[in-house]
Amino acid sequence: MVNKIEELLAQVEAFEPKNAAEVEEFRIKILGKKGELNALMEEFKKVAPELKRELGQKINALKNRATERINELKSSLGSAKIKVDAIDDMTRPGAAPMDGTRHPISIVKNQIVEIFSRLGYTVAEGPEIEDDWHVFSALNFPLSHPARDMQDTFFVEKQSNEPNVKDLLLRTHTSSIQVRAMERQQPPIRIVCPGRVFRNEAISYRAHCIFHQVEGLFIDENVSFADMKQSILYFAKELFGESATIRMRPSYFPFTEPSAEVDVSCNLCGGKGCPVCKGTGWLEIMGCGMVDPNVLEASGIDSKKYSGFAFGMGVERIAMLKYGVKDLRLYFENDVRFLHQFDSAL
Ligand code: DAH
Repeated sequence: MVNKIEELLAQVEAFEPKNAAEVEEFRIKILGKKGELNALMEEFKKVAPELKRELGQKINALKNRATERINELKSSLGSAKIKVDAIDDMTRPGAAPMDGTRHPISIVKNQIVEIFSRLGYTVAEGPEIEDDWHVFSALNFPLSHPARDMQDTFFVEKQSNEPNVKDLLLRTHTSSIQVRAMERQQPPIRIVCPGRVFRNEAISYRAHCIFHQVEGLFIDENVSFADMKQSILYFAKELFGESATIRMRPSYFPFTEPSAEVDVSCNLCGGKGCPVCKGTGWLEIMGCGMVDPNVLEASGIDSKKYSGFAFGMGVERIAMLKYGVKDLRLYFENDVRFLHQFDSAL
């Protein structure tokens, strides 16, 4: 009888069922009414009294172990069955992966480029690490201009304390790209130049040391201030809506003469005056002007034959106005909860 108990115990341990049905079959064989255990109990009744204690303990141990193992097998095979069922149900909606979106700055930059491309402008790019010539000297910046100062510009390599064409610096504006374009090709030139620019500014809600600009340049024979005004008006209406209007205020830039600052009618209050436009009804969106003859000549373009206009705008600023975002820093934190609010085909 001891052999029989040990043999059954070994069977219980070695049992490896393929499914829940096999477990149930095994349970009936061992623990069922007509099963092995009950057969042992029948035999046990006939055992001599002095052997009962030891054998009884062994049978009990077998019963406990068999019950425990069968329950274990049942629950592991049972839960596997539920998992299989879940996958098998092909009608259940799937868990959609989270889509990425374009960064709002990219969306607005692409919109700006796309609007000007309809007027025949193509995209030109240039290096972020530039030399003094392309950022300042060729653009008619006087030697004493504050933008050349260490306080405003990140210098990568400063050769001397005197302004030096060999100085390497992070470009402070994308106007440097127009110089490269003029050096490369003769008019007609019609380009937009998107890119990152760098300035030594303290970071706040309205300023950052890295931001994005789009520069525009149009040079040909007989290009006038009126052409510039009309192009910018078209741009403003395409970007802010048909009801948008613009106004130009006289301004100064070393590379344009005359120069102007462009305001667009406030798209939030329709020009009536609100906190965003500080009650004026106008929002500043860019600088522009007729390219200074000195700038044309510095890049090898005949200023007697050709004239042109240039403009430059900050992409973050336009995006803030378009989306009503009040803190510039949000564009640099890359919090997906912020980024997911701007969806666009562009
Ligand atoms: N480069 C100027 C800036 O960084 C923007 C600008 C103003 C560009 C007038 C132009 C322009 O081409 O004509 O603020």
